Amino acid sequence: MTQYNFDQEIDRTNTNSLKWDNPLYRGKDILPMPVADMDFQVADDLIDTINTINEHGVLGYSLVPNSLKIAYQAKIKDSYDWDTSIDWQVWIPGIVPGLTLACATFVSSQQSILTAIPVYHPFHLIPEWVNRPLLTFNMVEIDGRWVYDFKEFEEQLKKKPGVFLFCNPHNPGGTVFTKKEINKIISLCNRYDCMILSDEIHADLQIQKNLKHICIGNLLPNDFPSISFFATSKTYNTAGMGGAVAIIPNVQIREKFIKHTQGIFPMLSRHSIEIMETSLTMKNAWLDHLLEYLRINHELLLAFINQIEHLKMLPLEATYLAWIQYDAEIVGDFQQKLYKNGLHVLRGDQFLGNNFIRINIACTRKSLETAMGIIKKTIDAAH
Ligand SMILES: Cc1ncc(COP(=O)(O)O)c(C=O)c1O
Repeated sequence: MTQYNFDQEIDRTNTNSLKWDNPLYRGKDILPMPVADMDFQVADDLIDTINTINEHGVLGYSLVPNSLKIAYQAKIKDSYDWDTSIDWQVWIPGIVPGLTLACATFVSSQQSILTAIPVYHPFHLIPEWVNRPLLTFNMVEIDGRWVYDFKEFEEQLKKKPGVFLFCNPHNPGGTVFTKKEINKIISLCNRYDCMILSDEIHADLQIQKNLKHICIGNLLPNDFPSISFFATSKTYNTAGMGGAVAIIPNVQIREKFIKHTQGIFPMLSRHSIEIMETSLTMKNAWLDHLLEYLRINHELLLAFINQIEHLKMLPLEATYLAWIQYDAEIVGDFQQKLYKNGLHVLRGDQFLGNNFIRINIACTRKSLETAMGIIKKTIDAAH
């Protein structure tokens, strides 16, 4: 079986990479760690799939084959123990467009959209995009995890938002929600008649080995107004290919959603369809090796950050996106200072979290070590 080498340095410049070809970097030596994709080559089977399509060379319109539908159904059952029907599947170009369209479709112009903060930026931007008010509540640190402030959550639900946007595992912060927490979310949304849109794109990126992803859909009655979104793209590093699936058990919700996709969502490309199917059916150790590599990167960064006086990081339960808090009185504008020293990370404000940075650790160990060196140099210079 192939032993994947995630230490291999791959030059991603001049590939139209959002992460590496940022025009801001022109003429500068910047290590980029903002955008959530990985610096690793995909599994061999995915390269074979792409090569087969390219050799055939015909790229007309495609349909989603039954084999892909069955493969996703099996994935959801095998990995998350949720029995779903293939009739519940709606294939979409990506999760963010799916969430946006669902908000535009199911939230009336008088209603608001609720989400926890800090959060992946489209969650707090979608309300602006679809012209609905945003309601937020805070995540708080309890026992070394980022969890919901359920009191605030309920206070906001009393204002009757149309939907609650759930991110599980949570980006940023990496929380894998427990069954107890998910049941509490369900009971509160049920009490205040709030639809649930659940984004589970990071479900397979478990940093803590003992934790199991729980689908909210598995704990909801089938007629509950909800949509659960899944994709293989984050796990297998194929984000540029697009493709995702919305699981919608409630038939009225499903039909209304499908109606609103028409003329708006493009058909999936042949590449996207076949990449998804290969991701779901290939039998190789790429993901196991990836997770081992990410876990070591995570351990190194966690230990490094928490021995620096003015920085703090909670262990990630899932995702490869580290969420690091800093003391702004001592460190100042940390993100800018890091950038000046050659490291680009995202400013916490982008996720509505003050005095944080978010770092993508799905990079080679060498890049991670370079990043840690720049962090150390920046902190040492700050006091
Ligand atoms: C929580 C979350 N949802 C969705 C996405 C993007 O999904 P898509 O590319 O399918 O729109 C990301 C990308 O980082 C993400 O972190």
